[in-house]
Amino acid sequence: MMILGIEGTAHTLGVGIVDDSGSVLANIIKSYPAEEGIHPREAANHHAANVVDCISEALSTAGLEHGEIGVVAFSQGPGLGPCLRTVATAARALSLRLKIPLVGVNHCIAHLEIGRLRTDAKDPILLYVSGGNTQVIAYTRGKYRVFGETLDIGLGNMLDKFGRAHGIPFPAGPVIEKKALNGGTLLELPYSVKGMDVSFSGMLTAALKLDEPLEDICFSIQETSFSMLAEVTERALAHTRKNEVLLGGGVVRNNRLREMIDIMASERGASAYVPEGEFCVDNGAMIAWTGFLMHEAGMSLPVKGSHIRQNYRTDDVKILWRKVTKDF
Ligand code: ATP
Ligand code: FE2
Repeated sequence: MMILGIEGTAHTLGVGIVDDSGSVLANIIKSYPAEEGIHPREAANHHAANVVDCISEALSTAGLEHGEIGVVAFSQGPGLGPCLRTVATAARALSLRLKIPLVGVNHCIAHLEIGRLRTDAKDPILLYVSGGNTQVIAYTRGKYRVFGETLDIGLGNMLDKFGRAHGIPFPAGPVIEKKALNGGTLLELPYSVKGMDVSFSGMLTAALKLDEPLEDICFSIQETSFSMLAEVTERALAHTRKNEVLLGGGVVRNNRLREMIDIMASERGASAYVPEGEFCVDNGAMIAWTGFLMHEAGMSLPVKGSHIRQNYRTDDVKILWRKVTKDF
């Protein structure tokens, strides 16, 4: 069976096709350029203008006709209302036209499931760090539970805001990473960890006030924020007694972050996994694959009950496709 998934929670529109063995046949990603920050309605217009072409491109990349798709899945939330509504409409139209089941997928869970598909991680702690999200998620007793998260803005968002103030175009993360390589003085910035939660807005305010070489500020932002993430991830590993860390979200493209998580994991005798870049960022293949797992577990939706869920929480979903473990 072939499954088509449509992602559209924020500025990225993605259409992916996977088969029931987990082969990814197409993964088309088209991002709305968010230089000035993301305007939800404009991003939704971008998705509406491009979704039909992206679906056609995914089908032709996979060498398939519409009629060969057996299930359609879409990102049901969490995310920006207008963007979610646009991709939900496209998915409902496909479901009705092709008379195939419709599945609504939680975006954060999809990051975790595509990581399990694309790497050797079996039962990992997911450190999910993107523009809008920063969460530590793991499976226990029938649910993916959020062990820690940002109490204010996502780390990527912080990097992009800092970058904008210094004339660095969106997305700022990769440029900050390059500049940090030429920095070396660790400047003091708020290190804000509360239990397994983190916060970044204080660091942003403090970093914007610094009158020091930009390379050193970039270096210090990375060292401080990534140490915070390593600390909470380590605490989640200890708490759940798991021994795998999976990375997901656009910020984990950062080599210094990967290195710090690798060091933390190996010091504990745990393993760290990162999927290829196209599966770290928002993409349609992760929605298609999670949609397939859900469909197999009987979790498809009637079109009438397929409303979007802007604040869809990770632990709202019953994970019927995994064996319930009694551990922890
Ligand atoms: P979500 O909707 O899930 O929050 P998103 O729309 O923010 O995701 P992603 O593509 O997952 O999209 O992540 C984009 C973020 O990743 C941006 O904030 C960008 O600055 C950051 N980023 C990308 N590459 C790097 C890098 N090398 N180092 C640090 N941050 C990076
Ligand atoms: Fe994401």
